[in-house]
Amino acid sequence: MPETEIKEKKKIILSAIQPSGTFTLGNYLGALRNWVRLQDDYNCIFAVADLHAITVRQDPKVFKKNILDAYALLLACGIDPEKSPTFIQSHVPTHAQLAWVLNCYTQFGELSRMTQFKDKSQKHADNVNAGLFTYPSLMAADILLYKADMVPVGADQKQHLEIARNIAERFNGIYGNTFTLPEPYIASTGARVMSLQDPTRKMSKSDENTNAWVALLDKPETIMKKFRRAVTDSEAVVRVGEGKDGINNLIGIMSVITGKTSEEIEKDFEGKGYGDFKTAVGEAVVEELRPIQQRFDELIKNKDYLEEQYKKGAEFALRISQRTLDKAMKKIGFVLR
Ligand code: TYM
Repeated sequence: MPETEIKEKKKIILSAIQPSGTFTLGNYLGALRNWVRLQDDYNCIFAVADLHAITVRQDPKVFKKNILDAYALLLACGIDPEKSPTFIQSHVPTHAQLAWVLNCYTQFGELSRMTQFKDKSQKHADNVNAGLFTYPSLMAADILLYKADMVPVGADQKQHLEIARNIAERFNGIYGNTFTLPEPYIASTGARVMSLQDPTRKMSKSDENTNAWVALLDKPETIMKKFRRAVTDSEAVVRVGEGKDGINNLIGIMSVITGKTSEEIEKDFEGKGYGDFKTAVGEAVVEELRPIQQRFDELIKNKDYLEEQYKKGAEFALRISQRTLDKAMKKIGFVLR
């Protein structure tokens, strides 16, 4: 995106994703698919949030591979870096700088209430580090640096968006208008894709049971196997209903992919059993992911192209974000260089 474009009245969108292994179907349906669609109508900026990922321990070799894979996978999903600058968070030092500043305008109490912090500190009880705790201030920095109007995320990130708004409001309240207040963009379908093994919990790559989640790079036969094993109920009627979390989830997935409503899907599968339905959902997912997997295989071989794009993305991001950082620091009273 040329710099002049960002001055247009088009709204600004920013979002990011952690490079913690391959992305899941939840990441794709809840976030990435929307990012791709929003590119035409907004000034979009996307990032691989590698700084966020070290709040849990990473193996250096695997981490490095995951970051590059994540970048390539974003492009494979349809992010066009020529249109939507896409960068790697750690390449742009303003993020860590503003995060420190915002930490000083974020309350211990509000961070303590974050559900993700509570969950992760239980899961990683041996490593409840300060970064895990202040994670939302870094995320607020990611968003506020670009004056993002909207942040497309899945439902699980809503609380982090609220705290980003609160931090921005607090700062603006003290120093006058500095940050734009971001709105979450949470689509009505796909915002909460559930585990295939325990459909009362969200699909997450940190689930030890790999049958619970589908990775974007899973082979077709693996995807089919995971869907055939998906937990359902004993009613054996394909319809949305209470106590039918598994089927509700599968109907939701089918609905996002095919664009059909739940009612249409229920009609399509009238008189058919769960076996047929699970196979159909699996096939729809396989077909949706096939072109992404093919593009990924090509992109990941082309390291020069990836490097060219993430460097360009970082240069753009630094230029834009430096202005916001300087503005905020000036207001606080720092002496700018
Ligand atoms: P992350 O990496 O956990 O997830 C990336 C995106 O995927 C969405 N998502 C889901 N959506 C629906 N169903 C699911 N089961 C599911 N699982 C994940 C998430 O809501 C998210 O939109 N903190 C963020 C990354 C981040 C960020 C930011 C996001 C860092 N800086 C600035 C927005 C703006 C995270 O850990 O997402």
